Amino acid sequence: MLAIGVDIEDISRFKNKKPEFLERIFTKQELDYCFKNKYPERHLAARFCAKEAVIKALSGLYQKTLPLKQIEILKNKNSAPYVNIQIEELQKYKIHLSISHEKEKAIAFVTVE
Ligand SMILES: CC(C)(COP(=O)(O)OP(=O)(O)OC[C@H]1O[C@@H](n2cnc3c(N)ncnc32)[C@H](O)[C@@H]1OP(=O)(O)O)[C@@H](O)C(=O)NCCC(=O)NCCS
Repeated sequence: MLAIGVDIEDISRFKNKKPEFLERIFTKQELDYCFKNKYPERHLAARFCAKEAVIKALSGLYQKTLPLKQIEILKNKNSAPYVNIQIEELQKYKIHLSISHEKEKAIAFVTVE
């Protein structure tokens, strides 16, 4: 079985946001990574897309609400992003993620096996 999800966002939505807003959506590790970069909003938008794409891909497999903060986007040693899902019953699925961003838009694509 293969499920897919995709999401695209305007990067401007994530510029100069209050910490309270960001901390509702992103984990500390995610925020640390984004704010290490020159344009944090690009990385924030990309991670938001990734979380939404995961929700879309899992929507046929999981009927409960999936809090955005429990879908954590981390990086491996090659800098490739991966999903650390903090909900035990979803850890049996293999989730693949690819993200991209430029000046105005960010996009993420997810598959679930
Ligand atoms: C990886 C690469 C294709 C990214 O392309 P890009 O046009 O610079 O950037 P994009 O906006 O399309 O994508 C950026 C995202 O790609 C992802 N990415 C970075 N390295 C990656 C990799 N090795 N594999 C998969 N995804 C990767 C990241 O998630 C990054 O976003 P983030 O910094 O917010 O996490 C490019 O940096 C490249 O060709 N690098 C040379 C090869 C390399 O460095 N490999 C890694 C070490 S083996």
